[in-house]
Amino acid sequence: MSASSVVAQDRLAPPRHVAIVMDGNGRWAKKRFLPRFFGHKAGVDAVVRTIQACIDRDIEFLTVFAFSSENWKRPSDEVSGLMGLVLAAVSRYLGKLDSMGVRVRVIGDRDSIAEKLRQAWDGAEARTAHNTKLTLNVAFNYGGRWDIVQASRKAIAAGVPAHELTEDKLSEFMALAHAPDPDLFIRTGGEVRISNFLLWQVAYTEFVFSDCLWPEFGAQQLDAAIDAFHGRDRRFGGVKDAPNAA
Ligand code: FPP
Repeated sequence: MSASSVVAQDRLAPPRHVAIVMDGNGRWAKKRFLPRFFGHKAGVDAVVRTIQACIDRDIEFLTVFAFSSENWKRPSDEVSGLMGLVLAAVSRYLGKLDSMGVRVRVIGDRDSIAEKLRQAWDGAEARTAHNTKLTLNVAFNYGGRWDIVQASRKAIAAGVPAHELTEDKLSEFMALAHAPDPDLFIRTGGEVRISNFLLWQVAYTEFVFSDCLWPEFGAQQLDAAIDAFHGRDRRFGGVKDAPNAA
């Protein structure tokens, strides 16, 4: 196989890990004169569609930002509506996800969420632990800065000496230690910011920002983002065509 066909094949490989900020639920609902809750409800359907689309494209890891450490600032009825929706979604879709071969993992601060929700996430992880088709990381009560702090605390508690605390060592304590760094980061809803999502893990991730509102997201929008990803020239800080490039 020639060097150029290896490059061509490599360029068309799907991203291994896609991370998504699912924004625009509220605006989707508002456009339809509905309460914001209905936007979140439609957002759950978009999550299920996107999981299937990722499996169909051989994507191995999907990480979705379901509830941020900052989302507690929302009106209390919206927060409780979201919590109820997530509980209902877990009980409604867990069997389906399991039969699709999805392994659910939850990243975020579980200490300050309701006991019922903690049990639901623990149960979802335990039931799907054997699955290998796609790992769905649900970021829940998650913040990128929280993640760096919790990893540092764990490293200290494990007795890692300061001079051994390298980037690789700290990565072992981060919430996504089980996954490669995201290749592709998608944010829907038209805003162009990270909002304290995977700060540590996106150092060399490709970013795609879409005006599509999250409840409208599906296979077509995922393909558009993957096409944009394939058009990028990933150099990881190196130089293209350098004589000593790997
Ligand atoms: C942002 O839209 C969306 C959220 C804060 C919640 C996203 C959560 C879900 C789609 C449910 C996920 C559930 C599972 C089980 C993974 P927004 O409300 O900020 O929208 P706006 O910017 O239009 O107001």
